[in-house]
Amino acid sequence: MRYELAPSILAADFKELGAEMKRTEDNGAGYLHFDVMDGMFVPSISFGMPVLASIREATAQVKDVHLMVQEPIRYIEAFGEAGADLITVHLEACEDVAATIAKIRETGCKVGLSICPETDAAAVDPYLDQVDMILVMSVHPGFGGQKFIPESLDKIRQIRRTAEERGLSVDIEVDGGIYLTNVREVLDAGANIIVAGSAVFRGDAGKNTKDFMEIMREYE
Ligand code: DX5
Ligand code: ZN
Repeated sequence: MRYELAPSILAADFKELGAEMKRTEDNGAGYLHFDVMDGMFVPSISFGMPVLASIREATAQVKDVHLMVQEPIRYIEAFGEAGADLITVHLEACEDVAATIAKIRETGCKVGLSICPETDAAAVDPYLDQVDMILVMSVHPGFGGQKFIPESLDKIRQIRRTAEERGLSVDIEVDGGIYLTNVREVLDAGANIIVAGSAVFRGDAGKNTKDFMEIMREYE
């Protein structure tokens, strides 16, 4: 399996954003995680299309856009045009999940489907063969720097098991509260894409990325 680190720029120092991203790219992070919050689906507001459009040329990393937005179907085209490579929506935020997935496909982006901590792992079963990635939230979406919810590990295991039983090679990304101290548990459970915000950007982003990559390479 392929393993990827997706540093979440939510925790970055925005006046240094270009240089910070570059430090993660140079040290092996293949993805860049971009958290969009609308103040409705989640209480906070972060950033949107103009920021993505301005960083798209600055890095060759996969622009991994996590839409924490109510009825995300309204914004999919705009994020596709702004430079997303992968667009993830929340199952809980979509009135019509299948139509939202189809809309992402139309843009040419890869498709991710996410579930909050209170949503059952089985909720993604009907869509497993239609998406490229499942994003398991291991904190309540809305803020960086929260504590990892240990029950997420069982959800990862369950989704990986179901995908394997059905012969599907779906990526499983996990987001929230992941540090060098607990990333192995998340990988052992069956995840292959790791989001890390505070653990990468609070401190030396280059060195932190390198340390994560060393662990992830043990799994390849
Ligand atoms: C939370 C966001 C996360 C967040 C992770 O709503 O989706 O991507 O940035 O941050 P850390 O790694 O600090 O928990
Ligand atoms: Zn995220």
